[in-house]
Amino acid sequence: MRITVVGSGNVGLVAGACFADLGHEVIVVDNNQQKLEALRNGEVPIHEKFLPELLSRHRGNRLIFSADLKDGARRSAAIFVAVGTPPTGRGEADLSYVESVAREISGGLEDYKVVIEKSTVPVYTSEWIRRIILRNGVDADSFDVASNPEFLREGTAVTDFLFPDRIVIGCDHDRAVEVLRKIYAPMTDGSYYRRTAAIPQPDRAAIPPPVIVTSTKSAELIKHASNAFLAMKISFINAVASVCESVGADVNQVVHGVGSDSRIGGRFLNPGIGYGGSCFPKDVKAFCAVARECGYDFGLLDEVMRINEDQRQRFLRKVRSALWTLRGKRLAVLGLAFKGGTDDIRESPALFVVQALLEEGSQVTAYDPAAMDRARETVGSSIQFANSAYEAAHGADALLILTEWEEFANLDLKRVRQELRYPIVIDGRNLYEPELMAAQGFTYYSVGRAAAHPDGVPSVLVKNGKKA
Ligand code: UDX
Ligand code: UDX
Repeated sequence: MRITVVGSGNVGLVAGACFADLGHEVIVVDNNQQKLEALRNGEVPIHEKFLPELLSRHRGNRLIFSADLKDGARRSAAIFVAVGTPPTGRGEADLSYVESVAREISGGLEDYKVVIEKSTVPVYTSEWIRRIILRNGVDADSFDVASNPEFLREGTAVTDFLFPDRIVIGCDHDRAVEVLRKIYAPMTDGSYYRRTAAIPQPDRAAIPPPVIVTSTKSAELIKHASNAFLAMKISFINAVASVCESVGADVNQVVHGVGSDSRIGGRFLNPGIGYGGSCFPKDVKAFCAVARECGYDFGLLDEVMRINEDQRQRFLRKVRSALWTLRGKRLAVLGLAFKGGTDDIRESPALFVVQALLEEGSQVTAYDPAAMDRARETVGSSIQFANSAYEAAHGADALLILTEWEEFANLDLKRVRQELRYPIVIDGRNLYEPELMAAQGFTYYSVGRAAAHPDGVPSVLVKNGKKA
């Protein structure tokens, strides 16, 4: 099938590359010429596992890059819209990009096509896309609008796409559902997974994935509600972590006990410095705004956002209480990306903390395995960048862990200790066991657990909720 994907961001580019790997002919359309040139020249603009392989496998044959949306629409049976939906000042999603895409597509809808929302959009968007296309003179019989939300996490987007927990097809017309079923058939009939060149299956993946067919509005809500629920899980456990700190309990042990209940599940219960990224902050805000507009005050989500903001402030208070004053302190920061495994710094809680530290007069030397180039564009020369965690730690008054990169969970602690001026580690992602850090000579602060000091090692070592 020939498919056009509009927008070559994290969602559009991954979707385009994966559709090509399933065997479709894909045109990825973007209005940013520079980006198109880079993609045509073989550059991979985002840090995403397996994406370089897929792009080099299909670029120039089954996957082409174009600026001509009308032509793409004319030549395709399905047009996926994956342009950005940034928040407006009032927290609503800005749908002007989606609207201009809908207008432009209209010129290419001569025979029957399905226009599919992939971007996260408010519940009434499909209706608006439909209206815009009709206003531009297209016959109602020539198209349907569907919603086919994505649940891609950055860093693992390719495997999330090809091995999803479910495929949601939201559409009010059977003929459009059939087009979408055909597009995903290599996954749902299992044939893709039998190919020798298929992307390797991750643990936990149930193949073939189930298809859930819903109304368009339900599909739009599934996406919003899923993201809001996951954000709520994170804020919930961060609130529990704060109680743990007050009563002297260990949040990791609590997570182990709570998450073992299969009704709750242990995933997305990692406490830290709060959620960030291009989706959760924006989508929770937008879901709140949509609910308010529809007459429902979703106060629960206001609280989710409040706890998330507060979590960063709590971490800053921890840094202050560990170091007393911040002016003139040299701080080593590990992690700038909004989470591990990506170079994305959008709404990164790590960068928020760094900026607050700078405002208080600290000097920051940071290291991130992937996000330093992007961070440089934002924080410029206000911080120093190091080539490794050890270089960042060299001569620093304390080490701060702000992103959950695997690399940071496997540091040579002896070397870190030698590099630091004072052996103080403030871990915003709970990557280490407090007792082990104390045994290595560190004063160690983390989230939802008591601080540990070298001269106060508890007599019983506890790891993952079990006595060691
Ligand atoms: C975005 C949204 O942020 C997310 O909520 C949604 O689910 C999918 O789209 P992302 O892919 O990361 O996520 O967005 P972004 O990196 O902003 O990429 C959008 C792309 O669309 C850019 O390459 C931009 O140049 C392109 N674009 C934007 C167009 O081609 N036409 C437009 O009118 C606007
Ligand atoms: C998210 C959703 O998971 C995905 O389904 C959706 O399509 C897009 O938004 P992503 O933004 O890539 O994906 O990141 P995710 O892995 O969900 O993490 C989001 C934020 O929450 C990060 O800042 C991360 O550090 C934080 N997080 C995540 C926690 O603090 N604790 C957790 O247990 C999990």
